[in-house]
Amino acid sequence: MNVYDSGRMADVLAPLGYVQADAPDDADMVILNTCHIREKAAEKVYSELGRLRRLKIAKEEGGGRMILAVAGCVAQAEGEEILSRAPYVDMVFGPQTYHRLGEMVARAGRAGDVVLDTDFPVEPKFDFLPAPVSSANSARPEGHAESAAFLTVQEGCDKFCTFCVVPYTRGAEYSRPAAAVLAEAGQLAAIGVREITLLGQNVNNYKGAAADGSSGGDWGLGRLIAEVAAIDGIERIRYLTSYPADMDEELIAAHRDVIALMPFLHLPVQSGSDVVLKAMNRRHNADDYRRLVDRLRAVRPDIGLSSDFIVGFPGETDADFAETMKLVEEVGFIQAYSFKYSPRPGTPAAVMENHVAEDVKGERLATLQGLLNAQQLAFNRSCVGQVMAVLLDRPGRLPGQLVGRSPYMQAVHMDGEGGAMGAIQELLIIDAHANSLTGNPVRANTGAPVRENKRASA
Ligand code: 5AD
Ligand code: SF4
Repeated sequence: MNVYDSGRMADVLAPLGYVQADAPDDADMVILNTCHIREKAAEKVYSELGRLRRLKIAKEEGGGRMILAVAGCVAQAEGEEILSRAPYVDMVFGPQTYHRLGEMVARAGRAGDVVLDTDFPVEPKFDFLPAPVSSANSARPEGHAESAAFLTVQEGCDKFCTFCVVPYTRGAEYSRPAAAVLAEAGQLAAIGVREITLLGQNVNNYKGAAADGSSGGDWGLGRLIAEVAAIDGIERIRYLTSYPADMDEELIAAHRDVIALMPFLHLPVQSGSDVVLKAMNRRHNADDYRRLVDRLRAVRPDIGLSSDFIVGFPGETDADFAETMKLVEEVGFIQAYSFKYSPRPGTPAAVMENHVAEDVKGERLATLQGLLNAQQLAFNRSCVGQVMAVLLDRPGRLPGQLVGRSPYMQAVHMDGEGGAMGAIQELLIIDAHANSLTGNPVRANTGAPVRENKRASA
């Protein structure tokens, strides 16, 4: 979501004459778009600010000026503290304020004015943001195709998992009206985007005003996906990130019915222990999750699953952790993210008793990651000999080489010539590694089985 937000900031700044620089060294403005989710991410902000301060001083010594800004969730959570710890920062603004960026820059431009804006607006910021111009994804360096883009459809979170800062930094759940989402998806398609990832902290709880003016009530994510799929040029759809208890019938059915919906789902379970899940205030237990996976696989047998895990949540015992390992073994994930529990200021879990010792967290994380990595490698190896549809959107290491994404979000390095940047191309997978695959363009009929986004009947 920060990548998407950075793109929208670039869109707001473009009419003011700002263009993206390749490096911060000589920039007129540097915005750090920050994450507060775990302590490590938040700490990075201050070390990065120290580095940028040197560039700012160098620029001033040369007679120039660099506006230094901190955006995102660290800005939201630590506002004043940033200005006192790093008084050379010119602007601090939270994730709900980007539409006011023009005003803020003007204020910061007046020497000596420091801007602090962490208000949640009454009206959602989306109504005030310009259409995406060319920066479909601002993190995309030059030479990369703008063929895949993010599109925020929902923001904020009302779930209040006891470990998580998001409900405090991003605010209450809000869904954009479907008409606004479809308009933005159309604009992305018009600039050549073929794959859209619909974003939200609880994207599958999307409930947006219907786009057809019908009185049938809000649209859910399943309906929205079907409508985005109908837009000319949009060939692939993903959504991120989902809350298991919010997977409804319509969305599950979309995995069966919407060809463009990729057979890959990030569905964070966090833990396999019912006791821990309850203490986390998750609204599912381990068996609910298993049943949900069964329902998804019943409609889309080739679906690949991904998850987030937290180890060492306060009170987690060896037996609880064993439940997590058991769940991973049973479900089988094709990739996952796993973290040591990190106490976040202001969250209920931070003041719980029985915090788990760091070394125990470390051991559990290593054990869990050992299993998750083995599952990922096994899945990657199962792709060798198959043909996969790969969206080629980045240059590779060697001249002429291209890199892209499979339907399962695996990085695929094209070994050999014949690829077109921005194209979705069928590659025969010839090699598998821990984090990527290697494939060759399919020339003639290889007779290999096709594992891509077409069902046999399609
Ligand atoms: N400690 C560790 N991991 C966390 N996450 C969120 N908050 C914390 C925390 N306090 C993880 C969750 C979430 C992912 C985005 O980050 O697994 O799904
Ligand atoms: Fe955080 Fe996700 Fe839980 Fe919301 S649902 S509180 S964003 S972990």
